[in-house]
Amino acid sequence: MANPFLNPDIPSPCYVLDEARLKRNLELMERVQQDSGADIILALKGFAMWSAFPLVKQYLKGCTASSAWEAELAADTFGSEVHAYSPAYKAHDMDVILKHCNHISFNSLSQWQRYREQAAAAGVSVGIRINPEQPEADTELYDPSAPGSRLGILSSQLDGQDLSGIDGFHVHNLCECDSFALERTLQAVEAKFGQYLHQLKWINLGGGHLMTREGYDVDHLIAQLKRLRETYDVEVILEPGSAVAWQTGVLVSEVVDIVENAGQIAILDISATAHMPDVLEMPYRPVITDAGEPAEFAHNYRLGGNSCLAGDVVGEWSFKHPLTPGDRVIFEDMIHYTMVKTSFFNGVEHPSIGILREDGTFELVRQFNYEDFKSRLS
Ligand SMILES: Cc1ncc(COP(=O)(O)O)c(C=O)c1O
Repeated sequence: MANPFLNPDIPSPCYVLDEARLKRNLELMERVQQDSGADIILALKGFAMWSAFPLVKQYLKGCTASSAWEAELAADTFGSEVHAYSPAYKAHDMDVILKHCNHISFNSLSQWQRYREQAAAAGVSVGIRINPEQPEADTELYDPSAPGSRLGILSSQLDGQDLSGIDGFHVHNLCECDSFALERTLQAVEAKFGQYLHQLKWINLGGGHLMTREGYDVDHLIAQLKRLRETYDVEVILEPGSAVAWQTGVLVSEVVDIVENAGQIAILDISATAHMPDVLEMPYRPVITDAGEPAEFAHNYRLGGNSCLAGDVVGEWSFKHPLTPGDRVIFEDMIHYTMVKTSFFNGVEHPSIGILREDGTFELVRQFNYEDFKSRLS
């Protein structure tokens, strides 16, 4: 079958969401919710493509926001439940967040003290983020339990505190992890914070549960969630971002020129730093359709972005055929943490956003132009 992302209706560059694959992820999440009794909400920080929310809403209970603007976007485009967590809220953030949210988690006791009355008056359920000091993420950049972390309250800091008014605990400790990392996190939470858990109405287990990755032990996850819910008679909430949009689409790009320096370099109409920053930040090597490891096929290329940054290089791949200007290069799994992180750096043309519908038709939902670029600046 022809690759649907080579559809000539798709412009380049373009992020293309595959509706059928998103639906498959959401169906799995529905099973987790039904069998475990936990609630799953979408972390907008990872996937905020609101043109897809009519579908997401059919499966997930709501959204979680990391800021006043995300809270407003959640209320505006998703509706239903809106939760919030941010490392620190400014006074003017609170007015917006309390207007749009049903749950709020504070990162410190001082933030809770500062806003507890305002939150109570707004009728918003209040929680605090705890730090289980149980490192699980492979990359320190993404590890909330890393030594010296600013994220969450340590168990020692809760000694002697009166927690009346706190409905929930928020524990975000994972990044692209399996259910066994969750099990170890829960063991750490129970060992360090067990004395408080029976008093809670809810426990939010954050994101990082990559339940839609092939090989993830979904039944083991369900067993963990069920045990937690039943042991403490508590509502259990998960707020994944990556897992919702995992492998749900691509970034279509095009070769603009080929240059030579210690090998062949293909310059593309995208930028690693502007359009796929995790490639440089995490770092992360994407899969490219019909391309292999260096030397696997006859034609090797370093793929570079179209910005002036010397390090705007995606990596090295080999292809069966020589690349020429106009050829399409398709980066797979480019929906989560891409659109939400992009910039207009260098004024490089920003990828459009489109949806490959279940019936195979392509719908262009957003194109960017000079006015969008100009309006980010002043
Ligand atoms: C507090 C919180 N919740 C949820 C998430 C979503 O995590 P993921 O996209 O890895 O599932 C993150 C990611 O950083 C987070 O910091």
